[in-house]
Amino acid sequence: MSLNYEWRGSFENAEVNGLHAEAFDTGVHSRDESNWNELLAKHSLGWVVARDSGRLVGFVNVAWDGSTHAWIQDAMVTKKDRNRGIGTKMIEVVRSECRRSGCEWLHVDFDEDLEKFYVQSCGFTPTSAGLIRLS
Ligand SMILES: CC(C)(COP(=O)(O)OP(=O)(O)OC[C@H]1O[C@@H](n2cnc3c(N)ncnc32)[C@H](O)[C@@H]1OP(=O)(O)O)[C@@H](O)C(=O)NCCC(=O)NCCS
Repeated sequence: MSLNYEWRGSFENAEVNGLHAEAFDTGVHSRDESNWNELLAKHSLGWVVARDSGRLVGFVNVAWDGSTHAWIQDAMVTKKDRNRGIGTKMIEVVRSECRRSGCEWLHVDFDEDLEKFYVQSCGFTPTSAGLIRLS
């Protein structure tokens, strides 16, 4: 077993679409729809690709304001690889790469059930946040 984590690592769109469909239970119909490579190149500070002997096991996208704020979006780990510390390690990589890029703040929002992951395991401070559904 060889686990590795790569900041701005390469990936196929189909791999990430498959992982996203599994992680967020969006079903097979959403597979192969998004061009992650194009979207991330335009809008992201970076992303982490986690692989186990070449197989994609985790992915997280990091959006930013071009300056000092970065946002975690779509942290995901394949179902069969959860609870191996992969999610926590990916966020550690995000933290250090964001710091290295000059960011001062790393944001995330999440449902209550993920508090243990983000607060206890990854070290986020709980804070107030707001959300408006636009469609
Ligand atoms: C959230 C997610 C990325 C975590 O990945 P992971 O590799 O399983 O996380 P870790 O193994 O590093 O877990 C660290 C700790 O957080 C806890 N944890 C992880 N996922 C959790 C979840 N979904 N609910 C509650 N606790 C969770 C684990 O129990 C573990 O605690 P422990 O160290 O006491 O055992 C993964 O569960 C996932 O892909 N979920 C579906 C997609 C999702 O909801 N993403 C978040 C969007 S905001």
